[in-house]
Amino acid sequence: MGETLIFGHRGSKGTHPENTLLGFAHACHIGAEGLELDVHMSKDGELVVIHDEKLDRTTTGSGYVKDLNLNEIKQYSAGKKFKHLSFYDSSWEKETVPTLEEVLELTADYQVSLNIELKTDTFSYPGIEKKALELSERYHLKSRIIFSSFNLSTLIRIKTLDPEAHTAFLTSKRHLDLERMIQDHQLSGLHLNRSFLISKSNLFTTEHSVPVRVWTVNSARSIKKALDLKLAGIITDYPEKALELKKKHAQ
Ligand code: G3P
Ligand code: MG
Repeated sequence: MGETLIFGHRGSKGTHPENTLLGFAHACHIGAEGLELDVHMSKDGELVVIHDEKLDRTTTGSGYVKDLNLNEIKQYSAGKKFKHLSFYDSSWEKETVPTLEEVLELTADYQVSLNIELKTDTFSYPGIEKKALELSERYHLKSRIIFSSFNLSTLIRIKTLDPEAHTAFLTSKRHLDLERMIQDHQLSGLHLNRSFLISKSNLFTTEHSVPVRVWTVNSARSIKKALDLKLAGIITDYPEKALELKKKHAQ
């Protein structure tokens, strides 16, 4: 069993504007071992890195990603709405919604794993899986990428297009027969909500046949628990803090 890798959730959501090049660069700089990012598709078919279906919460723009072309999305600031974060600096206002390609370019020089969440739960974005795979091949990052999704159909499409791609199913649901899903769809990972960590039995998190990662694990107590359980990954808004705790845990 390998070590528990620390993944910065949406970059370093607790300290920097989520899903921005600034946040991803920070997470890489502090030594995060993985990055988690969310992907939607614009009207003109570009893969863009943003959490919500709409621009409204995280940018100065509004409307659905699917109804806007990339050049329209790029007009808005993806940093200005994060004034509540303690490191806020007016230079953040220049941040825009990055494309997946820009994030891959940025991270190509770091030995960092990429957890690319395809946000096809509300809109299916036909062709998103093929485009994401093409980009991962173009940047020679296939071995470092895990494609995750709450939408099993997306993961099945990824596996059909590339049987060697790593796929991880995201879920908060306890009642699913996860082992059965792993076998039936050749899933290569499970990404479980942190509520699985506080279950009385640890069966949910430790007895699966594929690597298990948990999200979003921010408290010191939960981070330590995930380290004790030797899970494959911790997806956290505070990668710097989690890396510190991991160092102490190893001592
Ligand atoms: O990938 C883990 C986590 O990001 C899933 O939930 O809503 O933060 O994308 P969400
Ligand atoms: Mg996500």
